[in-house]
Amino acid sequence: MSQEQYRDDQFHIGKINRLREERNAIILAHNYQRGEVQDIADFAGDSLDLSRKAARADAEVIVFCGVHFMAESAAILSPHKTVLIPVPEAGCPLADMITPGKLREMKKKYPTASVVCYVNSSAQVKAESDICCTSTNAIQVVNSLKDNQIIFVPDENLGRYVATQTDRELIFWKGFCPTHYRVLPEDILKAKEKHPRAKVVVHPECRLGVIMLADEVLSTGGIVKFARSTDATEVIIGTEMGLVYRLQKENPHKKFYLATEKLICPDMKLTTLEKVASALEQMKHLVSVPDEVQSRARRALDRMLEVKV
Ligand code: 13P
Repeated sequence: MSQEQYRDDQFHIGKINRLREERNAIILAHNYQRGEVQDIADFAGDSLDLSRKAARADAEVIVFCGVHFMAESAAILSPHKTVLIPVPEAGCPLADMITPGKLREMKKKYPTASVVCYVNSSAQVKAESDICCTSTNAIQVVNSLKDNQIIFVPDENLGRYVATQTDRELIFWKGFCPTHYRVLPEDILKAKEKHPRAKVVVHPECRLGVIMLADEVLSTGGIVKFARSTDATEVIIGTEMGLVYRLQKENPHKKFYLATEKLICPDMKLTTLEKVASALEQMKHLVSVPDEVQSRARRALDRMLEVKV
């Protein structure tokens, strides 16, 4: 890092720390955020941890460093708090692959099926669903339902992985995460050749061909726990690069290799220290959800939070 960059970072960190106090704010960051953003967060975690934190936070303001659907979930779970997102354009292409209208059409086709909706979706899509899930609890959420037939939206890869772990009949939606989709089985094989002693851990948003080559299939929070407890000293990581920063920081004596350099989510990387500081300074950009959508989406999220993992 150049001296100039270091000075700029220190300036923004000073401002963030002062404003965090003044505004009674909590900063939440997803595990895919830039390292320096994870470092200034009050809490960094996976989608489930962050939803729980947002639901329980006693601060007046939540600054959500992640992508839009995550901040929106925080606004749904904490409707009386001010939820800010430093970069409003930080979206999720997977979440954009389904609309409430398309989901309603699907529900008409399978009128007796329950709808499980991955949290990587808009508030309107959540409002049309019976229950949400994250990659941490997807299997338990599916198994918690009484109906045998389940519409699983919008991530087909996660759905197909869950289907290998349950006897329920899942109906998939053709959505995918473009970042995880870029990982190919040959990338894993190459990484294994280069690091033959390493364990392979991948996110369930990867293609099934990649998942089949992995030793473990885990959410980002699951990978954090695995990295701490494994005896392996080398691990190949099949998820977005931001997580590798955290793994390496928390486990300096182990080595973590990104399965491929293609594992970078451009939306997650939009948030910078400067943007966090100006969000707090100008109290922008407010994330809110209309009341009627909020209460229906909340039901689906609350139901998810009740499922034991
Ligand atoms: P996690 O819940 O595993 O953190 O996943 C979030 C996500 O959006 C993966 O692309």
